[in-house]
Amino acid sequence: MIKVGVLGARGRMGSEVCRTVGAADDLQLTAALDIDDTLDALAGCDVVVDFTDPAAVMKNLLECTERGLNVVVGTSGFDQARLAEVAGWLSQAGAGPATGESPAGSGARVLVVPNFSVGAVLMMRFAEQAARFFASAEIIELHHAGKADAPSGTATRTAAMIAGARAAAGLGPSPDATVTEVAGARGAELGGVRVHSVRLAGLVAHQEVLLGGPGETLTIRHDSLDRVSFMPGVLLAIRGIGALPPGLTVGIEGMLGVS
Ligand SMILES: NC(=O)c1ccc[n+]([C@@H]2O[C@H](COP(=O)([O-])OP(=O)(O)OC[C@H]3O[C@@H](n4cnc5c(N)ncnc54)[C@H](O)[C@@H]3O)[C@@H](O)[C@H]2O)c1
Repeated sequence: MIKVGVLGARGRMGSEVCRTVGAADDLQLTAALDIDDTLDALAGCDVVVDFTDPAAVMKNLLECTERGLNVVVGTSGFDQARLAEVAGWLSQAGAGPATGESPAGSGARVLVVPNFSVGAVLMMRFAEQAARFFASAEIIELHHAGKADAPSGTATRTAAMIAGARAAAGLGPSPDATVTEVAGARGAELGGVRVHSVRLAGLVAHQEVLLGGPGETLTIRHDSLDRVSFMPGVLLAIRGIGALPPGLTVGIEGMLGVS
C-alpha cells in the first residue's frame, strides 16, 4: 500500500486527487492538507502530491525534501530558475538547505509535472517533433478564469521544447515584421516562441500550437474538458516516483514511454 499525502486538498485539483487516491486499491490517502495546516501529518507518507499555488509550492517543497519525502508536483510556475533551485537542494547531499533541519539530499525524489494529461503530453511531444519543419511557431493557451498564473506551465514547457528543436535544426527567429505594438499584443516571448494566454469563464485547460511555413500551417490542439483527464497521469506519477533516481525529474514522458 502506497501512503499518499495531498497538499492543496480542498482545491479543484487536490480534491479530485483525494477522490482518485481514495478509490485506488493500492493507495492510501494518509494526509489531506490545505493552507495553514502543519506538514507534520505528512510523516510516514511514501509520496506527497502538491497542487497548491505557485506562491506556496517552493516552501512546501523545501520542507518536504528536508523531511526526505518524495513529492509529485502538479503546481505550475516552474521556470528554469525554479527547477535549478530545486535540483540544487536535492544535490546537496548531507549539506541541507538554508533552514538546516535534516538534509535535503537524503535521497528524496521530486517529480515536477507541467501537465498530467496523456493527450497534453503527446501534444507537446508532437509539437517538438514538428517544430523543425516550420519557420513560425506560436502557442495559444486557454484556461478557466480562476487560474493564478500566466502563461501556463504546459505552455512554458512546450515553448522550451519547441525552442530546443528549432535551435537544434538551426532555425532563426520566427518571421515577424511588427514595428508598432500595443503592449502585450504579441504575447509573451519564451525562448523566442510567442505565447498568448486566454482566461475565459467556462474553459478548463486547452492549448494550440500553431506552426507555419510557405503555403501551409499545422495546428496541434489539445483540450482537457474535465479535471479527471489529469488523474491517470497523477496515478502513474504516484506509483512510479519511487522507481525514479533520487533528485529532480521533469514530466511523465519517461513513464509513458514517449521521452
Ligand atoms: N500539472 C497539471 O497537470 C495541472 C493541472 C491543473 C492545474 N494545475 C496547477 O495546479 C495548481 C492548483 O490548481 P487548482 O485549480 O486546484 O487551484 P485551487 O486554487 O482550486 O486550489 C489550490 C489549493 O491550494 C491551497 N493552498 C494554497 N497554499 C497552500 C499551502 N501553502 N499549503 C497547502 N495548501 C495550500 C488553497 O487553499 C487551495 O485549496 C495550479 O498551480 C494549477 O495551475 C496543474
